Amino acid sequence: MTCTTVINQKGGVGKTTVSHALMSGLSKRGFRVLAVDLDPQENLSFTVRADAQEKNTGNITSFDIMTKRNSAENAVVHTDSGDIIPSSPLLSGADAFLTGTGREYILKENLQTISGDYDYIIIDTPPSLSVLTVNALTASDFALIPAQADVYSLQGISQLAETVELVRKYCNRSLKIAGILLTRHNSRTVLSRNISEMLGEQAKNLGTRLFDTFIRESVTVKESQISQMSIFDYAPHSSVTGDFDKFIEEFLEVSK
Ligand SMILES: Nc1ncnc2c1ncn2[C@@H]1O[C@H](COP(=O)(O)OP(=O)(O)OP(=O)(O)O)[C@@H](O)[C@H]1O
Ligand SMILES: [Mg+2]
Repeated sequence: MTCTTVINQKGGVGKTTVSHALMSGLSKRGFRVLAVDLDPQENLSFTVRADAQEKNTGNITSFDIMTKRNSAENAVVHTDSGDIIPSSPLLSGADAFLTGTGREYILKENLQTISGDYDYIIIDTPPSLSVLTVNALTASDFALIPAQADVYSLQGISQLAETVELVRKYCNRSLKIAGILLTRHNSRTVLSRNISEMLGEQAKNLGTRLFDTFIRESVTVKESQISQMSIFDYAPHSSVTGDFDKFIEEFLEVSK
């Protein structure tokens, strides 16, 4: 089993979109996939329709796991895109309720009980660096960083790299950065070309890579999310779906 946290404390860079594409793309390749929604915004849970199905599990969410009220096994919901542990708005108070010793390890300990059932676990995280994201990184083999071609992204990734270093030092020595994935890309602007070069440099400095595949900006992505469908089912032949397919092939190489 390989566990990957999709992380960037900057909002709206494509974390949930990439998490969903990985979840469904890996499922379609025949892998056993579990997604964990750790974002109180519940975007991924909504998109895979896990919020409606929560009733099947008695409405058990990642909040119940983080507060040790229930087990990961009981929280799993089956969807067309793969399995998911859905999220809850209650998670937004995590920094206040997760205070005890060993609080960084709660997710890892829970996922260990079901990790044998899966080939890939993908964790979608909120736009923050918090006890939730530290839990996700502590449970993971890889951090995957989606980023957009703008200057604040460069700044944010340096801060994120410091968090990754701290988690490596104190909680999870084997954590690696899978790479930076450029999302919502518009190849027509000179600016985004310059910044993608800078992201490449930054990736090198962090001892990782900028993925060769860029995910283009496309309205098809938004349409698929409104329809609550995976991009692969909604528009199997569109260019942006091709981008995600190519990225997943790269991801499979990197995360071997
Ligand atoms: N390749 C793309 N083309 C067009 N729109 C996109 C693309 N990727 C993401 N979006 C849109 O950008 C917005 C933000 O994407 P997403 O929710 O995946 O980001 P996020 O990093 O998970 O955000 P948050 O930090 O709030 O969790 C969404 O409206 C989504 O539809
Ligand atoms: Mg999100």
